[in-house]
Amino acid sequence: MAVEHQVVRTKSGHLAMLCTADGEVMHPGVGPLAEARDLYVVQSRLRDRLASADRRLTVFDVGLGAGSIALAARSIAEAGAPGSASLEIVSFERNLDALVVALEHPEAFGLEGEPGLAARKLIAEGRHTTARTDWRLAYGDVFEQLDRETARADIVYWDMYSPRKHPMFWTVAAFAQIRALAGPACTLFTYSASTASRIALLCAGWAVGLGTSIGEKWQTTAAAVRLEDLEQPLTIDWMRRLRRADVPLPADAPADFLARIEAMPQFHS
Ligand SMILES: C[S@@+](CC[C@H](N)C(=O)[O-])C[C@H]1O[C@@H](n2cnc3c(N)ncnc32)[C@H](O)[C@@H]1O
Repeated sequence: MAVEHQVVRTKSGHLAMLCTADGEVMHPGVGPLAEARDLYVVQSRLRDRLASADRRLTVFDVGLGAGSIALAARSIAEAGAPGSASLEIVSFERNLDALVVALEHPEAFGLEGEPGLAARKLIAEGRHTTARTDWRLAYGDVFEQLDRETARADIVYWDMYSPRKHPMFWTVAAFAQIRALAGPACTLFTYSASTASRIALLCAGWAVGLGTSIGEKWQTTAAAVRLEDLEQPLTIDWMRRLRRADVPLPADAPADFLARIEAMPQFHS
């Protein structure tokens, strides 16, 4: 397969992975290591959840790309305090090229030493297991892989290509598919703050809130099965703005999306 990825330096001066086929840069803002840590792993309170869990936790890493988010999550579990739960990471990906290229730049992508060995094993065998982490590759089209998946997610990191160029990853159907695999206290984090993505999440059955700001992005999105797991649920004022005629919608928004969202418990507290 032709190499479709290369490492580039972003405006902010960080090295990041460019997919030349799509023109999409992974973690373009503050760089892969900081974004993986702050937007995904810290925001999901992974360390606390592992410390208080009485069973193994499962993270869905969608998609794997250069591995920055999976590796950041894995490093928390590997460094876990005695008594912390172990972590299963299921990484969804159809092209391992970005991870292969990232391995040539181990410092920029957190792949020095043991994490690099783990990534090589994942590429070669589709799995790497230690006493604390079980990292598994779900290789192929994400929607086909989700159809086959039997694990239930405690945390979802939804890091697919942008809604502008790849709207199919940001539809009601996509978020309903992942919602069907969500455990009872599952939370989901994504960089998109678009109104259409949030409408898709709401219509798919998630409670939806503001996610942390990062770099120049003043908002991202957090979602949860249980409303009480959101730090900043979207408010009634946000919901009222959906009444405008020009509101951006996901491709498969139901005709009665507004009535459905208006009736949701999060807008009646
Ligand atoms: C934004 S990148 C993920 C970056 C990654 N989370 C990281 O930390 O490096 C999105 C990834 O989704 C993958 N992808 C795109 N379409 C896909 C599909 N239909 N099925 C599975 N993976 C897909 C791409 O190959 C790409 O690596």
